[in-house]
Amino acid sequence: MVCTGNICRSPMADVILRHLLADAGIDDVEVSSSGMGGWHVGEGADRRTVSTLARHGYDGASHIASQFDPRDFDRYDLVLAADRGHQRALHRAARTDADRAKVRLLREFDPAAVAAGTLEVDDPWYGVTADFERCLREVEAACRGLIETLQALDHADGTADRPAADRTDATKDES
Ligand code: 4NP
Repeated sequence: MVCTGNICRSPMADVILRHLLADAGIDDVEVSSSGMGGWHVGEGADRRTVSTLARHGYDGASHIASQFDPRDFDRYDLVLAADRGHQRALHRAARTDADRAKVRLLREFDPAAVAAGTLEVDDPWYGVTADFERCLREVEAACRGLIETLQALDHADGTADRPAADRTDATKDES
């Protein structure tokens, strides 16, 4: 999850996606977040991010901001941008076509956002509580859509109905 400062949008997405993955029983997805800029590296999330998350039952208190590093492309299958500015910056940071193909807008995973053509998560940093609330709604819907996409991929793979431990055994048996 990537935004500008890694203190508002991408931490929300990071915390919410982790929470929803745990709720869905998906334990084999690694999630992290970072900012394209380094101004807030080492800081916690913006206090308005933490309080907005808390109002919705999410814990953002342990977030520590970091800056995107092109080597993150090696570690992750998807690099999700909050807005088109981040998407462009990530495209510039991509070292290969394979890196570039990993970059998507987070809200591409929200069918309603796709239908409405509103694919950016607006920056709430200069905003008020309502802007943080809207940010959370947008990010949460996208994270739910992302989980549905992962579940659909897992079903297509034919392994979704079995626990992860069984899938590991099955893979071993087949190899
Ligand atoms: P974020 O919000 O990218 O959603 O974390 C911002 C945080 C800091 C700045 C801009 C946006 N900044 O300019 O420092």
